[in-house]
Amino acid sequence: MAKTPLDPKRIPNHVACVMDGNGRWATRRGLKRTDGHAAGEEALFDAVEGALELGVKWLTVYAFSTENWKRPADEVKFLMWFNESILVRRRDELNEKGVRIRFSGRQGWRVPKRLQRHIDESTELTKNNRKLTLTIAFNYGGRAEIVDAVRQIAASGIAPDKITEKTIAKHLYYPDMPDPDLMVRTSGEFRISNFLLWELAYSELVFTDVLWPDFRREHLADAIREYQERERRFGGLDG
Ligand code: IPE
Ligand code: IPE
Ligand code: MG
Repeated sequence: MAKTPLDPKRIPNHVACVMDGNGRWATRRGLKRTDGHAAGEEALFDAVEGALELGVKWLTVYAFSTENWKRPADEVKFLMWFNESILVRRRDELNEKGVRIRFSGRQGWRVPKRLQRHIDESTELTKNNRKLTLTIAFNYGGRAEIVDAVRQIAASGIAPDKITEKTIAKHLYYPDMPDPDLMVRTSGEFRISNFLLWELAYSELVFTDVLWPDFRREHLADAIREYQERERRFGGLDG
C-alpha cells in the first residue's frame, strides 16, 4: 500500500534521535562492535540529508552518554577517535550545506583535549548557518544537564521563590534550542536512557526496530508520518 504523503505544513521543527543498535548490528554480522559505530556514520549523514530535504530545522542526535564511559576502554577510545575523525572529515561538507554544528554535553570534562579543540573549531566554523542546527549530544546526560543548570542557578544567588521553569530552561546547555517535537529511538529499546530529560516533557516518542546503521532518510520520514498522526494536547483538551 502506498504511504500517505507527509503534510509539509506539519513537519516537526525539532527531531531528536537516539542512535542505538550499532553493537547489535555488528555482532549479527560477525563484526566487531566498533564496526557498527563506523557503519553508523552513513546513517547519520543520510538522516541529516533527510532533515534538510524535509525542512526539519533542528536535529539532535545522541552520540555518547555520560554513562557510556562505563564501556570497555577500547570501545570508548574508538568512539572518541571516531567522533573526532567524522568532524575533521565532514565539517566542511556540513558547513557548505548550511548546517550549524553544536555539541551538547559536559564539555571539557573527560573529553580528550584534541577532540575538544575540534569540537570548538567546528562550532565556530558553522555558527552562522541556519538551514539546520545539528546538535550532537556527546558526553551528554539529561541529569547532568539539570545538575549543571542548578549549580549555575545556585551560584547566581537568586532567591528560591524567584526560580521558575523559565529559570531552569535558561540555564540548560542551549537555552535557544526549542524542545523536540519528536524523539525517535532505533533498535527496539523503549527507553530514554538519560536523553534530554527536561526537553522531552511533551515530545512525541516513536520507536523503531531498525538498528541505527540501517537507518536512512526514509525511516526519518516514516517517524514523521507517525508523528503527524498523533494529536498533541500539552495537557489541554485540544492541540
Ligand atoms: C549506540 O549503539 C551507540 C552508542 C551508545 C555510542 P550501541 O553501541 O549502544 O549498540 P547496542 O545497543 O549495543 O546494539
Ligand atoms: C543511549 O544508548 C546512548 C546513545 C545512543 C549514545 P545506550 O545503548 O547507551 O542505552 P542503554 O544502555 O541501552 O539504555
Ligand atoms: Mg545501545
